[in-house]
Amino acid sequence: MSDLGVTLCGVALKNPVIPASGTFGFGREFDELYDISVLGAVCTKGLTLEPRAGNPTPRIAESRGVILNAVGLQNPGVEHFIAHDLNWLKNKTRVIANVAGREIGDYAKMCARLDGLVDFIELNISCPNVKCGGMSLGVRPEDVENVTRVAKNALKRTPLLVKLSPNVESIAENARAAERGGADGLSLVNTFTGMTIDIERRRPVLANNTGGVSGAGIKPLAVRMVYEASHAVRIPVVGMGGITCAEDALEFMMAGATAVQVGTQNFTDALACPKIVAGLERWCASHGVEKLESVIGSAVLNGQRSLKC
Ligand SMILES: Cc1cc2nc3c(=O)[nH]c(=O)nc-3n(C[C@H](O)[C@H](O)[C@H](O)COP(=O)(O)O)c2cc1C
Repeated sequence: MSDLGVTLCGVALKNPVIPASGTFGFGREFDELYDISVLGAVCTKGLTLEPRAGNPTPRIAESRGVILNAVGLQNPGVEHFIAHDLNWLKNKTRVIANVAGREIGDYAKMCARLDGLVDFIELNISCPNVKCGGMSLGVRPEDVENVTRVAKNALKRTPLLVKLSPNVESIAENARAAERGGADGLSLVNTFTGMTIDIERRRPVLANNTGGVSGAGIKPLAVRMVYEASHAVRIPVVGMGGITCAEDALEFMMAGATAVQVGTQNFTDALACPKIVAGLERWCASHGVEKLESVIGSAVLNGQRSLKC
């Protein structure tokens, strides 16, 4: 048996497979289908200080190879999560709390509240579907550095992952900005801002007009960004964007990701995550890889020493 374990910001995960925020709820529905303790960790839906109802419907649309969502951070609020889901989830596996805020002070309050209660905090400064806060704090490097520093200062025990937006000029710059702000790790990518139009109604399909694009079609964009970001910083990176199978997960790890998150594929196949864990085991066995960790960052560029980024 190969060793699938990875260490992320000093925390041991039994394997690198993590369902992505917003595509797994708090794990309860999936746990009816399989024992979610087989997963390396679970990343929660984006949590806010107060409960939020999210955006008007329709807020999910399909397009070839991708989906668009404008759910808009619907969630029961952080106190509900702590009271109802946290202990149950902690008994299953590692917990990553994905947090969002309307303004910078909200991020500090969320971090202070969850410090020491969860294994990681993932700072969502990259949600394209909310009007204030959300992505507006995750675009300019100086904002990324600032919100990261404020969040980090509110934490004493729990490692901080900063989730980067792909809708930026330079992912490497923003990765370095988060590192300067004190991030213990990065996660990327969140969704790409997109639009799809109903040609009979001549209107955007989503009530919000635009939404975040995710799913298999974004994978090459995400792999490139994970490569760039992980080679720009010394802190670990959690990679995601369009992962559907173990081979996709391996691409992200070879590009430099220590762990991976699986999002939209959970909607296509509710058993996607355990299948990816099993697929990683098979791949390691058939390739004589004893420790999966050894593949991290192992991809070598063709004929040049660095990407022009
Ligand atoms: C319906 C939906 C809801 C999402 N909600 C969140 C969220 O609350 N917080 C967050 O950081 N990312 C959220 N995301 C983004 C995913 O976590 C992930 O970054 C993105 O979908 C790319 O991965 P994928 O292509 O595997 O889905 C959401 C994505 C989808 C499809």
